Amino acid sequence: MELTINDITCTFAPGQTILEVATAHGIFIPTLCHLPNCTPTGACRICVVEVWGARTLVASCAAPATEGMIVGTETERVLRARKTILRLMLDSGNHDCLLCPAAGDCVLQSLAFRYGVGTGTFERPKPRHRPETGNPFIVRDFSKCILCGRCVQACNEVQVNEAIDYGYRGAATKIVAGCDSTLAESDCVFCGECLQVCPVGALSIHDARGKARLCETRPVRTTCPYCGVGCQMD
Ligand code: FES
Repeated sequence: MELTINDITCTFAPGQTILEVATAHGIFIPTLCHLPNCTPTGACRICVVEVWGARTLVASCAAPATEGMIVGTETERVLRARKTILRLMLDSGNHDCLLCPAAGDCVLQSLAFRYGVGTGTFERPKPRHRPETGNPFIVRDFSKCILCGRCVQACNEVQVNEAIDYGYRGAATKIVAGCDSTLAESDCVFCGECLQVCPVGALSIHDARGKARLCETRPVRTTCPYCGVGCQMD
């Protein structure tokens, strides 16, 4: 089966999404909430593309590819939407890269550079939730969370721990552990899966804060020291 992306003819198999087809053919589409092998949530909308004949922009991570489809990934309309989404995200919380432990290893930061957008377009809301620093492993800074939900999927679909989920509603929405307790009081086993998939600085390694930025560290393969099963992790 075939479709056209940016005037390039791409072959695909039934069941593939537009994003998967584009990626397989070396065409870049930015993503934030997309986690391979997990159910697409379409939460962030940064992956929107223009599909000829469709009235609205389409989230490519969730939209199935169909025969004869004509797709534009960097049209004027797409770029305008992407920049607005990035501006909204950057002003939704405390995205001060100079002081962020994820600086240099942050997808939101790299996309802001790529599309030439910064903070200050919208009024930044006051932080509603205090950072959680009370355990020795993971720091949760809710003011940097973009609610992409990758940590929730990593916990619930990849590790099947089901320790965290979305909580509250509207502007008060946050990722909660249990009934909004701390990670230490919840079913969290501190496997670190959530930490590895967080695309921003909302989750960081406790010991690394103030000592090293993620971009200054090097991942190594090691045995998880926590539960004794002996899983290998980065
Ligand atoms: Fe597609 Fe977030 S990556 S909606």
